[in-house]
Amino acid sequence: MKKFKTLLASALILSMVGCSQATPATTDGGDTGSADAKTYNVGVAIYQFDDNFMTLYREEIKSYFASLETDAVKYNVTIVDGKNDMAEQQNQIDNFITQGMDVIILNLVQTSSADATIDKVVAAGIPLVLINREPLGDNGDESYKGILDNPTVCYVGADARQSGTFQGEIIAELPDHGDINGDGKVSYIMIEGDPENIDAQYRTEFSIKALKDAGLTVDCLDDQVGNWAQAKGEEITSNALSQHGDAVEVVFCNNDAMALGAAAAIKAKGRTVGKDIYLVGVDALEECQEMVKNGEMTGTVLNDHIGQSHTAVDVAIKALNGEKLDNYYWVDYVKVTK
Ligand code: GAL
Repeated sequence: MKKFKTLLASALILSMVGCSQATPATTDGGDTGSADAKTYNVGVAIYQFDDNFMTLYREEIKSYFASLETDAVKYNVTIVDGKNDMAEQQNQIDNFITQGMDVIILNLVQTSSADATIDKVVAAGIPLVLINREPLGDNGDESYKGILDNPTVCYVGADARQSGTFQGEIIAELPDHGDINGDGKVSYIMIEGDPENIDAQYRTEFSIKALKDAGLTVDCLDDQVGNWAQAKGEEITSNALSQHGDAVEVVFCNNDAMALGAAAAIKAKGRTVGKDIYLVGVDALEECQEMVKNGEMTGTVLNDHIGQSHTAVDVAIKALNGEKLDNYYWVDYVKVTK
């Protein structure tokens, strides 16, 4: 697992400490009844509100900040919807800077725009906590220079390779190893999230790698982009089942929202998960945990929105206190089966 130590230049630490002390938005805390409370303004930019997992994540950010308030410290949290539009998100970040946010938590629309955004926020002297969409270095898997170079910028997330590996293992560990018809290969369809997103790339790659590492032969019948969306998951699965019929043994979905759609299509085609087809997702949405329990899904992988949102908030508060940040904070995925 990637972990990188931050080398902090003391001058930069001082400038960061200076920043959070120089720009506190101190209010009279009238709405809370504590006259001397210090209020920190927190800007949270989410790539798109219309996303099941990021909805849970952002709600937890809000409630966890609220739970940490005391008579002396309040957090004024503003959360905005990027509507999956990078231009819109750039405007929102510009507004956060103009409004003098004390810290920004950012779920990028496009990780390819990370540098431009980091530069702006750093130039404004505001600490930045990137979440959920990891910007990658030039060689793919290496750490991102924009994060390593900036001691007031960090990334909080989960290593998507682990989630893909767990998906593949869930299938490989079945009694028939995913080869329902016994023809010596695992015939699957893959439903991918946003292809620009590393979570989608790694889950696609590492789920299949885990099958191969277990010594299994694989056969990809279809691989389509569903953009993390339930309706697309349903449409793609329905089409693939019409085209390939009983040959489809496993449906891999890069997330649970798409797996919910796939489950509906599987039912509509008269197929039965656990009997004549397998279905795996990622996120462990509550609905999907229930489906794993009652057999409607073979498994999922917990994408720990609570661990990640709490870490993001804890790190943001560290930055507000002028404490030294690491570059990367990692939260583990967990395999979920019956
Ligand atoms: C993933 C998550 C997806 C979707 C995506 C957005 O980590 O599994 O459901 O929320 O992030 O980038």
